[in-house]
This record gives sequence, C-alpha cells and structure tokens, in this order.
Amino acid sequence: MASLKDKTALVTGSSRGIGAAIAQRLAAEGAAVVVTASQLGPKSNYTGSLEETVSRIEDAGGRAAAIACDLSDGEARADLVQRASDAIGAPIDILVNNAAAAAFMAASVTNLAQRRGTFEVNFHAPLDLIVQALPSMRLRNAGWILNISSATSSQPAIPYVGPRAMIDALTIYGASKAALERATTGLACELSGSGIRVNALAPTAMVLTQDAAAFAGVLAETHPEQVESMETMVEAAVALCRGSLTGLTALSRDLLHLLQRPVHGLDGREVLSDAFSVEGRG
Ligand SMILES: NC(=O)c1ccc[n+]([C@@H]2O[C@H](COP(=O)([O-])OP(=O)(O)OC[C@H]3O[C@@H](n4cnc5c(N)ncnc54)[C@H](OP(=O)(O)O)[C@@H]3O)[C@@H](O)[C@H]2O)c1
Repeated sequence: MASLKDKTALVTGSSRGIGAAIAQRLAAEGAAVVVTASQLGPKSNYTGSLEETVSRIEDAGGRAAAIACDLSDGEARADLVQRASDAIGAPIDILVNNAAAAAFMAASVTNLAQRRGTFEVNFHAPLDLIVQALPSMRLRNAGWILNISSATSSQPAIPYVGPRAMIDALTIYGASKAALERATTGLACELSGSGIRVNALAPTAMVLTQDAAAFAGVLAETHPEQVESMETMVEAAVALCRGSLTGLTALSRDLLHLLQRPVHGLDGREVLSDAFSVEGRG
C-alpha cells in the first residue's frame, strides 16, 4: 500500500467503468488523482459520475479532484493536463488514457463523421494529452503513460466467438485502438532512456461495465470465459503506472502472469487471487 505516495495521476473516462476503478485503486495506493469525463454529474442512462468517483476516493481517505472536459473537442482538451496539475497542485506523474468513444459500426456502413468521431476520442485525444504531459515529465526524468486499448485492435480468430454482427461492429473501434497501440510503441521507442514509460493495456476478456454489458451481455451469458473481473484489469493497469516496463502492448492476464502479481481488491488491500489462478488460467 501507499506505493504511489507523492505521485499524481490523471485518469480520463473516470466517471464510471474501468476508468473510475483505476482512479479508485491509484488513490488507494496513495496517488492524488484527477478524474475527468465530459460532465461532473451523472449522465442520463448511466450509473456513476465524476462526483461519485471523487466521493468514493475521499471517503476511503484519498485525494481527488474532478474536471469536466469533452475529449472529442480539440479546443476543450487543449489545456487539460495543465488544468489537472492546477487542480491537484502538482505536475502529473501518471497519465491514464482510458476514455473511449464506444461507436460500434460495421466498416461497410460508416460515414466520415462517425469515423472521425471515434478516432478523435480514441486516438487524437490520448496523443494530445501525452504531448501536454511530456514537458513536465521530461523535466523530472520520470512519468508513466498508460493507454487503455482493446483486444479488438486485432481481427479475432476464426471461428468467431459471439454473433457475427457484433464482430463486424467492432471494426472501426478496433482500428482506432490499433492506431493507439502503434503510437504507444513508437512513443516508448522515442522516449527510451528518458525515464518516461509508455504502455498499452487491454482487458483479456470483457469487463462487464454498463456499456460492455449493453453491447455484449448475451455473449457474457453464453460464454462466461469471455468475461474478466474489474479487479483483474485494474491490477494490471496499476502495475503499469509504476516500475520500469515500457513499450508493451499487453493483455491484462498475460501481464499479471508475467509479473507473477496477485489480484487485489480495489482498496488495494484484500488479495482476491494469486498470480497462478488469475481467472481463466487457474
Ligand atoms: N469494458 C470492456 O470490456 C472493454 C474491453 C476492451 C477495451 N475496453 C477499453 O477500456 C476503456 C474503458 O472502457 P469502459 O467499458 O470502462 O467504458 P465506459 O464504461 O463506457 O466508460 C467510458 C468513460 O469514458 C468517458 N468518455 C467517453 N467519451 C468521452 C468524451 N468524449 N469526453 C470525455 N470523456 C468521455 C465516459 O464519460 P462520459 O460519457 O460521461 O463523458 C466514461 O467515463 C476504454 O478505452 C475501452 O475501449 C473496455
């Protein structure tokens, strides 16, 4: 515990889902965390909000601040890292690019506006935030950048698991994540020796957030092996927010096996499984 004491983190897309859980765990490890999403309060049709994420962190004794920022808007996000530093009172050490536009559509029926919308949030926004965060990381010769990707960055193996229409709908979203992964390894190479680590991490299987459940809940029921726990993904994510690994585009379970790392609860205390019995491998 408290391994991230004196560190600051900015986690995008932290009003709910994986981003909210990563923010919670980083705070449990001692980091002061800035959470961000397009609005502070709850969004209609969704559970969770930035305000709730901050309350959860503060109730557990952590430190957090919230900033509303629509990442699809290049001007709105142009000074987000500076605003995050100002809000938390120190430069950002850890940047987690987690927010994503979940625009699911088959490649054959997309239009330019839809494709641009997906790439704006899933590729351009992470890159813009990285460019903003790098100067102060360079000054301190240290920084951790984690881009949350998706296994859909590669075409799934045949025979497909799940309905064909669902596989088709992941093409443009997956392409945006493939671009993000390529930028990740390129940046890691460019920054090697600088003390700044850049990695990408995807859930090995589905984490049943509200959006994921709405999109693929049927698959989760028929193929429970295609589901992983929030804690597994978060454990792997937090492992890449410290330490010296860089240039990885990893899947959560593979990384935990590589590191022989047990899965903890989101409070960072309770051990839920050892490294040999991470779900799906035990
Ligand atoms: N869940 C899975 O099984 C799964 C699988 C593979 C990859 N992933 C990746 O994991 C990450 C998190 O997924 P999730 O399932 O936790 O997502 P989620 O529950 O849908 O949450 C997405 C977050 O991103 C924010 N966001 C979306 N568009 C935004 C925008 N334009 N500006 C600012 N914030 C925006 C949302 O907040 P607002 O809507 O309030 O702005 C929300 O906080 C994503 O990168 C996703 O691609 C997830």
